[in-house]
Amino acid sequence: MVRTIRLYGGLVLFVYILTHLLNHVLGLHSIEAMDEGRKAFLAMWRNPIGTPLLYLSLSSHMVLSLWGVYQRQHLHMKFWEMAQLLSGLLIPFLLILHILGTRFAHEIYGVDDNYVYVLYALVVHNIDAGYRQAILMVLGWVHGCVGIHYWLRYKPAYENYKSLALAFAVVIPALSMAGYYVASLEVMKLAADPQWLKSFFGGYNLPTAEEAQDIYRLETVIQFAFAGVISVVIIGRWVRYAIQRWQGTFKVTYPNGKAFRAIKGTSLLDVSHLNNMPHAAVCGGKGRCSTCRVRVGKGLDHLPESESEERKVLIRIGASDNMRLACQTYPITDVEVTPLLPAKSDLKAARREHSSISQGQEREIAILFADIRGFTTLSEKKLPYDVVFILNRYFEAMGTAVEESGGRLDKFIGDGVMALFGIDRGVETGCKNALRAARRMAEKLDELNAHLAHELPEPLRIGIGVHTGAVIVGELGWGQATSITAIGDAVNTASRLEGMTKELKSQLVVSQPLAKIAGIDLEDFPRQHIQVRGRQDGMDIWSLENAKDLPQI
Ligand code: FES
Repeated sequence: MVRTIRLYGGLVLFVYILTHLLNHVLGLHSIEAMDEGRKAFLAMWRNPIGTPLLYLSLSSHMVLSLWGVYQRQHLHMKFWEMAQLLSGLLIPFLLILHILGTRFAHEIYGVDDNYVYVLYALVVHNIDAGYRQAILMVLGWVHGCVGIHYWLRYKPAYENYKSLALAFAVVIPALSMAGYYVASLEVMKLAADPQWLKSFFGGYNLPTAEEAQDIYRLETVIQFAFAGVISVVIIGRWVRYAIQRWQGTFKVTYPNGKAFRAIKGTSLLDVSHLNNMPHAAVCGGKGRCSTCRVRVGKGLDHLPESESEERKVLIRIGASDNMRLACQTYPITDVEVTPLLPAKSDLKAARREHSSISQGQEREIAILFADIRGFTTLSEKKLPYDVVFILNRYFEAMGTAVEESGGRLDKFIGDGVMALFGIDRGVETGCKNALRAARRMAEKLDELNAHLAHELPEPLRIGIGVHTGAVIVGELGWGQATSITAIGDAVNTASRLEGMTKELKSQLVVSQPLAKIAGIDLEDFPRQHIQVRGRQDGMDIWSLENAKDLPQI
C-alpha cells in the first residue's frame, strides 16, 4: 500500500516535470511561444483538481520516501538506487526557492510569474539561482526516470521499449535545456535595453526588495526544517537499531553450512548481503522481482505470515508452501534457507525458471554424486555428536565446492551428495563445471582431513561419479519437502558410477559422454566399458585414483 501510494505520487510528479520541460522546449522558438505553452501548463496544474493533486503527490512522495529510508535495515545499495535516494533528498532543497519565487509570489504578492519574469530572476537578477534551477531540472528528471525504470523493468513488455525509453529520457531534458538557454539569451539581450527594463519593472508587479528578502528568509527556514526532518529520520534509525539489538537475535543457516546471526527486524536478504553471501536481488529488495526467493527448512513454522504484497508475488510464480521472498521475510527464530536462484540471476532467468523448470522440463544436464567411503564403520566408533559434527563439516566442504563451481546442490542423502550442473547455462558448461566441482571436492576433502586429523581415526575418503544426459528437471515433492530436482536414467547412471568407485578403487569415475561434451582428454587414465540402461552398446568410463589429477579445463 505504502509503495503504491509512493509510486502514484511519483508518477504525478513525473508528469508535472515532463509538462514543465516540454514547456521549456518552446523556448527554442521564442519566449512568447513559451508563455503560450504555459497557458496549457497552468490550465492543467493551477485548478481546483491539479493543485491539490500536485501538492498531495509531492508531500506523500516525500514523506513515504523518508519512511522507506527509516525502514531500511541497512543503506548498502546499488549505484543507481543510491543516486535516486540522494537526488530525492537534494531536490527539496533546490526546489523551495523556485516554488516561493513563482507560485508563492504569485499567490501572496500578485506577481505575474510568466517566463520573462522567471528567466530575468534566474539569469539576470541571480545567476546562481539560474544554475541551481538547471541542476534541479536535471536531478528531478533523472530521479523520475530511474524510478520509472525500476518500476517498469518487471513488466515483460518493457524489454521491447527500453531503448525507446532511454532515448526519450535523454532527448527531453536536452531539448528543454536548449530551450531554456535560448530563451535566457533572449532575456539577457532585452535586459541590456534600459527602455525594456523600465517597462519590465513597471509592468510585472515584481516583489519589493523587502518581499524578496522575506522569500529568501522563508527559503532558509524551510531548508532548515527539511534538514531537521532528515536528521529525525537518521536518529530514528539509530534508535530502532538499538531497540532491535535489545530484542534479541536469530540465526540463518545456509546450505553450505555457513550460519550468521542477525538482530530481529533484519530481512533474510539483508542477512545474506550483510554477510557477503551471494544472493540474487534484482529489484534491490522491493518485493517485486522474486529473484531473492528461498526455500525454508527448519524454522518455517515460526516465520511471520507473508504480507499481501509478498503473497501476490509468491502466487504469481507458483511458489510452494516452503518458499518465501528473502527480502520480505523477517525471521524471529533460527531458520535454515536455500536461495533458489543463482546470485547473478536476472529477471529473464527468474521468469524462465518458473515458467519451465518448476513445471517440469526435459533438459540435458550434468549430474554428480559423491559419497563417503566407509562412513558406517566410522560412525559406529564415534559418539552421535561427533558424527553430526563431522558430517556437517563434510557437507559444508562439498556444498561449497559445488557452489563455487557453478552447480546446484540438489540434496544430501545420508552421507551422500547429489548436485546438478548446467540447468541454467547449458550442458557444455554443466559438464565442465561438474568436473571442476569433482576436483574442488577432492581439494576440499584434503583440507578437511588436515583440519580434522585429531578427530578421525583415518582420513575421510570419497567416491564421485559424474555423468550427463537428458533428464526431467522440475519441482518435485510435497509440502515442505518440495525442491527442484532431476529424475531419469542419467541420474541413476551417475549414482551407479559413484558406486563403482569402490570396486575400481578410485576417487572419481567419469562417463565418456560427459568427458566428450566437456572436451577433456582422459586417455591417460584406466578405461572400462560398462552396460547401462538406455544405451544398447553400453558406455565407456574412466576412473581416476584422485580427482585432483583431472587435467585443467
Ligand atoms: S529482491 Fe526482488 S523480490 Fe526480493
